[in-house]
Amino acid sequence: MFDEYGIPRGAELNEVPLPALYHFVYCSRAADGVDDAEVGRIVKAAQLHNLAHGITGVLVFGSGVFFQWIEGPAAQIHKLIARLHGDSRHYDVVSLSQSEEERERLYPDWEMEKVEAEDIRMVLTDALESAEDKSNISALKRILKQLDSGPLDSLGRS
Ligand SMILES: Cc1cc2nc3c(=O)[nH]c(=O)nc-3n(C[C@H](O)[C@H](O)[C@H](O)COP(=O)(O)O)c2cc1C
Repeated sequence: MFDEYGIPRGAELNEVPLPALYHFVYCSRAADGVDDAEVGRIVKAAQLHNLAHGITGVLVFGSGVFFQWIEGPAAQIHKLIARLHGDSRHYDVVSLSQSEEERERLYPDWEMEKVEAEDIRMVLTDALESAEDKSNISALKRILKQLDSGPLDSLGRS
């Protein structure tokens, strides 16, 4: 039943169950006066907070629009979503995708990485190429399709 290492026979080593991971993807419009320096402060503070709470992701800022992918434990992500909604440095927060799945992180090494708007397609395409699980693949495809349907700065407009 078990081999000499105590591993059940027939079990693949890579079949270790994955943790439940919540992701939230949104876009929003930057409030007046929010410039690159302010975004730099947001990212610095986010990196400290996210590291302490098991959150990773990317933040894109360009043409006055934010696009952010955050992933981590559901309870921590829900708390962050509430804080994001109350943050006056942006408005018109539009949720693009959110759910909880057992899967690997898309951005395991980034506590919060700022990505230039023109590089977002590349970041998402790279993530799509290395993504193995179906829900990641379909969420990324949906977002890339949304990017194709107009410039990033049209995402938040109704
Ligand atoms: C576009 C944008 C992205 C943000 N991303 C994060 C983030 O990833 N992590 C984080 O802790 N705070 C982030 N913040 C800041 C939070 O909204 C909030 O100000 C911060 O968590 C401190 O909350 P508190 O003042 O209630 O303690 C972001 C703010 C903006 C405007």
